[in-house]
Amino acid sequence: MSDVVQDMARITIKPLTANLGAEIFGVDFSRDLEDETFGQIHDAFLRYQVLLFSPGELPPASQVAFARRFGEVQIHVMNQYHSGGFPELYRLSNLDENGKPNGKHPDQGTLIWHTDGSWRRVTGHATIIYGEAMPDTGGDTLFCDMYGAYERLSPGWKARIATMRAMHNLDFSRNRRHGHEPMTDAQRAAVPPVDHPVVRTHPDTGRKCLYLGDHAESIVGMPYDEGRALIDELNLLAVHPDLTYEHQWKVGQMIVWDNRCLMHRATTYDAATQGRVIRRCTVLGQIPV
Ligand code: SIN
Repeated sequence: MSDVVQDMARITIKPLTANLGAEIFGVDFSRDLEDETFGQIHDAFLRYQVLLFSPGELPPASQVAFARRFGEVQIHVMNQYHSGGFPELYRLSNLDENGKPNGKHPDQGTLIWHTDGSWRRVTGHATIIYGEAMPDTGGDTLFCDMYGAYERLSPGWKARIATMRAMHNLDFSRNRRHGHEPMTDAQRAAVPPVDHPVVRTHPDTGRKCLYLGDHAESIVGMPYDEGRALIDELNLLAVHPDLTYEHQWKVGQMIVWDNRCLMHRATTYDAATQGRVIRRCTVLGQIPV
């Protein structure tokens, strides 16, 4: 399957793995996309969950304009990451004002499996991420298919979690992974913990998937430690080599993924000697059901 190339009217789609991810050719991001082209991209997004494009130069305004085709773009509560003039863009950079690596990973939470915006009532739909600078080694991004993660569970697990809800809390995950730079009181107040189903039905495909990740703190109605153990166990069970795709970046690539049926994480790199800069925006989706 991975070597199959399908030609459509305007774009070409080449699957990246047997199950997950596709590279899309033939899209010109320097002008507004026609509805037909966007429709083909959207169909591929639902089918492959992760789409890779190589636009080369992609000005921030074009990235935001493309994101808006999917829906309303989130203004992230962690405003220290907003990128000059575009509050829709969340920029992660380890470069100092002279363009030299500063030795600091900008957001260590991204190194742990998670799904964008699960800490909001209306959660993340598409994330659109663009690579401005990439290290020679490391700094990859991995994706895990959460439809497959759900389908692989035993009938016993499926029955156990069928009606379970988890509390998702950005303050919890931020403190765990980046506690030396915690949220401000105002940021914390803006995004109180919210509960979501552990098994959600994708609003467009109707398929069931696991919905957890690093922002999930506890299970509603369960003692805290028991819920934590269950979340850790399910997060581990979800990730299986057959269900994952690891992307090794090239500068000027863009990836679009569906947070409603995927987890993702980045891998480490040497932040003291290598630069890595990405800008990301996340489109708001639905309240999970
Ligand atoms: C993220 O977790 O949203 C960013 C992933 C990355 O830096 O590759």
